[in-house]
Amino acid sequence: LDNGLMRTPPMGWLAWERFRCNTDCERDPKNCISENLFTDMADRLAEDGWRELGYVYITIDDCWASMQRDEQGRLQADPKRFPRGIHRLSRYMHDRGLKLGIYGDMGTHTCGGYPGTPLDKIEVDAQTFADWEVDMLKFDGCYSNTAEQEQGYPRMSKALNATGRPIGYSCSWPAYQGGLPPQVNYGLLAKICNLWRNYADIQDSWDSVLKIVDWFFDNQEVLIAAAGPGGWNDPDMLIIGDFGLSMEQSRSQMALWAIMAAPLFMSNDLRTISSGARSILQNKMAISINQDPLGLQGRRILKEKSGIEVFWRPLSNDASALLFFSRRNDMPYRYQTSLSKLNYTTGIYKVNDVFSGKSVTLKDSSNFVVSVNPTGVVMWYISAPAKPRPLPHQFSRGG
Ligand code: GLA
Repeated sequence: LDNGLMRTPPMGWLAWERFRCNTDCERDPKNCISENLFTDMADRLAEDGWRELGYVYITIDDCWASMQRDEQGRLQADPKRFPRGIHRLSRYMHDRGLKLGIYGDMGTHTCGGYPGTPLDKIEVDAQTFADWEVDMLKFDGCYSNTAEQEQGYPRMSKALNATGRPIGYSCSWPAYQGGLPPQVNYGLLAKICNLWRNYADIQDSWDSVLKIVDWFFDNQEVLIAAAGPGGWNDPDMLIIGDFGLSMEQSRSQMALWAIMAAPLFMSNDLRTISSGARSILQNKMAISINQDPLGLQGRRILKEKSGIEVFWRPLSNDASALLFFSRRNDMPYRYQTSLSKLNYTTGIYKVNDVFSGKSVTLKDSSNFVVSVNPTGVVMWYISAPAKPRPLPHQFSRGG
């Protein structure tokens, strides 16, 4: 969507995967969906180095709304859990250099059973979000049919635009239509949405990450063509820092999401996150690969019988990212290859290892071995090949 927003994949924090629809603030005040949860996370984003790295969107998911609209037919926040209202919350974010996202649903109800946005409420709700100075809308698709979604998603895009407030627009539409053409029209999506959920919800497990990764790379030709500045495929939240992933698997999720040019929305508890998980999420080179301004989504280039898979993403300045991923479960696997085997042209390349911080120089034809841990990755940032040496001084003119 060409609204000037999200020219690189959006980054931030999203409540759903970790905090779900926990509304029990009496017994679980620290973890229930309430304004305190969002101000707590905002404080962490602002004070623990996240914001400076680009993690600026903090997004409310389902279960924030009151069961009743107000007298004027507008959505309103649950008065017990959000006593100061959403507008105060967006001010809180803006005061800290952050942006607030909110959740709505194209349909009669949200997936969690809260009030949705049926067709005749789209303009009212868009205006309400704009009045609250919200910066992003995640628009889910429970409790509507194909025909309603076909009308509703473009109509919300128009309605948000008509408010005059720049609001990033995340569409769950394709996830409700199987994620693939001919049901899904990716050309249209890229025109009306800034990002879109293509596939099933992530859960706190490695198994869930693998299912998502397989689907995205098995369908990469369709998805790569849809992505670019202002419009991104969304394989769902980062679960790094939660319970389901080992450190190896956490690096794998970060690296694969960087290759995919995916939104980086963490869903974790930033108040208690381990330093290991934090350093993976704050890895500057992984983030810069994810945020590359060309915005070309990467691809899987090899699936070896050994269980090693190789991924590649072209980056600006003739640089690229290479990722070696192991689906093995036995021991570190020594994978031997060369850059020319991976389609690199003749030249000498500087290679930076994203997670070890080491760098080496490699000739295209030289064989090398990378040791890839079970369920883990080795990720490289590869600079443009060195240019040929300039002519010696005596051959240059006018010097
Ligand atoms: C759907 C979405 C999730 C989350 C829940 C909320 O399942 O895909 O990301 O928003 O609804 O109920």
